[in-house]
Parts: sequence; structure tokens; C-alpha cells
Amino acid sequence: MRKNMSDKQEISQKILVWYQKHGRELPWRVKGGAHPNPYVILVSEFMLQQTTVKTVIPYFKRFMEMFPTVESLAKATQEEVYAMWQGLGYYTRARSLHTTAQIIVNEYGGKFPQSRAEVLKLKGIGEYTVASFLALAYNQPETVVDGNVMRIICRLYHLTETLDDIKETIRKKAEKLTSREHAADYASAIMDLGAMICTPKNPQCLLCPLKDICQSKDKVDLEQIPIRRKLEKKEKQGSVYLIQNSEGAYLLRKRTEKGLLNGLYEFPWKEEGIIWTKAEDTQRHITHVFTHIKLTLNIYKIICDTPLVPDGFFVPKEELSKYPLSTLMKKVIKEK
Ligand code: ADE
Repeated sequence: MRKNMSDKQEISQKILVWYQKHGRELPWRVKGGAHPNPYVILVSEFMLQQTTVKTVIPYFKRFMEMFPTVESLAKATQEEVYAMWQGLGYYTRARSLHTTAQIIVNEYGGKFPQSRAEVLKLKGIGEYTVASFLALAYNQPETVVDGNVMRIICRLYHLTETLDDIKETIRKKAEKLTSREHAADYASAIMDLGAMICTPKNPQCLLCPLKDICQSKDKVDLEQIPIRRKLEKKEKQGSVYLIQNSEGAYLLRKRTEKGLLNGLYEFPWKEEGIIWTKAEDTQRHITHVFTHIKLTLNIYKIICDTPLVPDGFFVPKEELSKYPLSTLMKKVIKEK
């Protein structure tokens, strides 16, 4: 049976009513409309881009204490920003957030832009974040489509094609459901519904406000939806060097190469790469999975009093934690 407009409104109404009662209280959230402070939404949405709510909460609180306004963030050094981001991973986000704060202060006099086109021109903001920012900060009728929303839509309409092939269909269906009057609450509501009820495993269908209309409820393939194509990760091998001087300090360098880990500190490492002849193979290795790559690094040790790389410098063991290290390097420390 085709659903007409009023059915769609009924669905979003059900989601909103459920949210008022069961939606999470979160430090970056107000219920009942847009958040009064767009900076709060900006910071939280950057943090939430690739990280769970539970992990983000303490980082968000510390970050807001350190940088309570967009001006304070714009003025900070990259080092200070990274220090507050340490452990969250995906540091490109920290860099982009910092740059975005500087653009807002320097080019907009500290007033946040409110048009889609202008927000998209800031740094590190794509389709998802522009929609969530405009909905949550300004109650604009934008449709947020993240993993949670895709799962809900696919299950609600029992869409069993591979996700990559139906993204546009999902977006259109999600757009039709979006509440135009209560866009901010609706965006939070649908994310919570995905995180709390329509979960990937063990969905709580009995508690779902859409249980009477969901086309996947009671279907055996419910947990398999949405259908994802398996992504083959490319495997790469490399080597990482723990170079210690005679006082036991470790050689670090700051990564300046463009890309994912730029600005973070690291032990010298190479994909494939030359091995210094005096390096001792520890027979230990670490494995790290990036989006498309599975990287295995063998750990080598070298005792040497001269920095073996031009930009290297020695850091006493107890001071290593002062330097923002990538998750990759933290694994090396754990394994060493
Ligand atoms: N995931 C991304 N943004 C979110 C938000 N504002 N609330 C809950 N989960 C989220």
C-alpha cells in the first residue's frame, strides 16, 4: 500500500513523541528546538563524525572547558588542540575543526554562517555534517543521513538491495519523513532511535514507536539489513623503529607529510622501507586497520646516540605522553 503525505507525518510524529520521552540527555543537546549555541553543535558533530556518543562525552566536556568559545579555539595552537583530541583518533577532524573556527572568527567576525553553501565551504564539513549542523543549530529542515538513519529506513521499508546501490532511494525516503517544523528534535530523535532501538544487533522492536508499520519486524533477515558489500582491505607491511639513546630516551619525529596523521608525533616508520642494518628485530608486530588498509608494522630496536632521521629528537620515556601520538604509535608503545 502506498503511503501518502499524512502517513509520513504520522511516522515523524511517532518518532518525535518517542524522543520526548526516551531520547538521551547529552551534554551538547537541548530538547525542544535548536541549540542556542552553534559552537556546541559544531564541536560535538565533528567529534561524533567517526566516534560513538559514549566515547565522545568526556572528550567533549574537556574540550569545551579548554576552548569554551569559537574565539578561544581559533586562538589555540595546533598542539593545544591535538592535546585535547588525543585518543579520539582521526586527527584530520581536529585540524579541520580548528581551521573552521579560524575561518568563522577571521572571515565571519565570530558569527556562524547559516546557509548550506557557506557552511559547506568551511573545512571538514560534508553532506552529513552540514545537514546535522543546520538542523541542530538552526532548526533548518535538513535531513541527516548517517548509518543509523540508513538502517532505520532500510528496515522500515524492507530494502534488501546492497546499501551502495540504494543510497539515493534511502535519502529520498529519509527526506520525506523529516519533520519540517521540528527539524532539530527530529534529527536527534532519529539518531537516538537508531542507536537505542533499531540497533544493528538485537534491535528492541517491541519498544519501537514504528513497530506497527515496520516492514522488517518479525522478518528473519532483520539483523542483516542493511546489506553491505564486503570491503576488501588492502594489506600492507612495514617497519617501525624504536631508537633509544644510551639514557633510554626515544627518538620521535613530528609528521609533516600530507594526509591522515599530519601533525602527530611518531617513531620513525616505513611502509616496506629500508631497515637500518644495526636494527634488532624484536619479533613483535602491531596491526592497525585504516579505512581501506590493514597495516602490519614489525618493530625494530636500535640503540644509538645520534638522531638517525633529520627531524628526529630524543624524548625521555616518561615524557612520551606529552606528545600527541597516533593510535598506531600507541599500539607500538603497548607492544614494545
Ligand atoms: N551522532 C552524531 N551526531 C549525534 C548527535 N547529535 N546525537 C547523537 N548521536 C549523534
